[in-house]
Amino acid sequence: MANQAKTESKAGFGSKLGFILAAAGSAVGLGNIWRFPYLAAKYGGGVFLLMYIILAVTFGFSLLLTEVAIGRRTGKSVIGAYTEINRKFSPLGWLASAVPVIITPYYCVIGGWVLRYLWAYLGNLRELAAGTGAENTFGTEFFSDFIGQAQSPTVFFLIFLGLTVLVVILGVQKGIERISKVLMPLLVLLTVGISIYTLTLKGASEGLKYYLLPNFSGFTLSKFLKTAAAAMGQLFYSMSIAMGIMVTYGSYMRREDHLEQSVRHIELFDTGIAVLAGMIIVPAVFVFSGGDASALNAGPSLMFITLPNVFRSMAGGQLVGTAFFLLVALAALTSAISLAETVVSIIMERFHMKRLAACCITFGICLVLGMLSVLGYSSWSEITVFGMQFLDFFDFISNNLMMPIVALLTCILIGWVAKTSYVEEEVRVSAQKFRAALLLRIMLKYVCPVCMIIILLTPFVTEI
Ligand code: PFF
Repeated sequence: MANQAKTESKAGFGSKLGFILAAAGSAVGLGNIWRFPYLAAKYGGGVFLLMYIILAVTFGFSLLLTEVAIGRRTGKSVIGAYTEINRKFSPLGWLASAVPVIITPYYCVIGGWVLRYLWAYLGNLRELAAGTGAENTFGTEFFSDFIGQAQSPTVFFLIFLGLTVLVVILGVQKGIERISKVLMPLLVLLTVGISIYTLTLKGASEGLKYYLLPNFSGFTLSKFLKTAAAAMGQLFYSMSIAMGIMVTYGSYMRREDHLEQSVRHIELFDTGIAVLAGMIIVPAVFVFSGGDASALNAGPSLMFITLPNVFRSMAGGQLVGTAFFLLVALAALTSAISLAETVVSIIMERFHMKRLAACCITFGICLVLGMLSVLGYSSWSEITVFGMQFLDFFDFISNNLMMPIVALLTCILIGWVAKTSYVEEEVRVSAQKFRAALLLRIMLKYVCPVCMIIILLTPFVTEI
C-alpha cells in the first residue's frame, strides 16, 4: 500500500493546528496583500470578488485538497510523489519542482523591498518623500530610486533570504511550525485592526461599496473571460497550488488529522485575509483620491506607491503604515519559508542530503537567481528576456505558463489515470465521511482541466 510507503522516520508537523497554520502561512503572502487588491480593483471590485470566492470554494478547494492528499498518501515531496502514483508522470514532478526554484529567489527580492519600506516607516518618514517631495510624487521617486540601485535592494534581499533559510534550517517542527504559530495570529490581529481603522475614515463607505457590490453593467464576454482568467491565476498564486508546496506540506501531515476540514480552514484563512486586505486598500485609496476609482488602477505599484501616499494623508499614518508593512513582511516571510522548504525537501530526497547541506544549496541558488532580479532593475536594466526584466520574466513563466500546465497535468493524472478514488481514499483515512467527494470528481475530471486551458489560451484569444 502506498499508505505504508510513508516513511515513519520523516519528521512532520506535531499537531493539526500546526499544519493548518503553516499551510495558511504559506498561502497567505504577497499574493493576498499586494496582488489580490490591485487585481480586484482592476477587474471591477465586486464582480472579481464574487468570481474569486465562487472559484475558491470549488476549483481552489479541489486542487488544494488533491495536492495535500497526494503528499500525505505518498509521504514524499513532489518528484517522488508523482513518480510513485504513475512512473510516466515523473516529468510532471520535475516541472512542478522547477516552479519554487524559480519563484523563491524573486519572492525574496520583493520581500526585501517590503523590509525596506518597513525600515522607512520605523525610521524617518521623510525618506519616502525623497526627490521633489511634491504631493503627487511622494513615494514614486522613493520606489523607483530604491529598486534602481544595486546595493540597497541587495542588502534587504539578503536579510530576507537569510531569515527565510534560517527558519528552514531549524526544521519542520522547530522552525516552520513554531514560527507559524506565533506569526499567523499576529498577522490576523494586524489585518483586522488596520481594516477596522481604515473603514472608520470619512468617505470609506463609497470605496467599500465599489469593492463589495458587483456591478455587471458593461460586462462583455471578453471582459468576463479576462476577469475569470485573472481570478483563476490569482487562486494558484494565493493558495500556493501547482508548485509542490502543498504536496510537501501534506507529506508532513499526520494521518489522524481530518484532511477535508483542514483544507477548508486553510482556504478560509487565505480568502479571508485577501478579502480583508482589499478592505484596507480599496476604501483607503478611495478616501485619498476623493472617490476617484481610477486611482485604484495603479497595478503592482498600488502597494508601493499609492498606499504610502494614502498613509501620509491619514491621521496616525506612520503608525498605520508601520503596522501595514509589518503585516506584509510577516505574510511574505511565512510564504517564502514554504517555498524554500519545498526546494530543500526535494534536494534532501533526490540527492540523499542532510537538511543543512540542502539549505546551503537552496541559499546558493536563490542568491544567484535573486541577484539577477535585483540587477535586472538596476545595473543590468538594459538586459531583457523576451522584452521583460528578469523578475517579470520569472514571474511570467512560473505563473502564466508552468503552474497552469502543472495543474492541468495533475487533473489528468488524478481525474483520469489514477482516478479520484486516490484522493478520496486518503480523505477517508482520517474521516468517515467525505462531504465534497462529488464536487472533487466533477472539478478534477471536467471543470479544472477546462479552466486550465482557458487560462493558458486567454492571453492569445483576447489578443486576437
Ligand atoms: N501563496 C503565497 C502568496 O500568495 O504570496 C506564496 C506564493 C505563491 C508566492 C506563488 C508566489 C507564487 F507565485
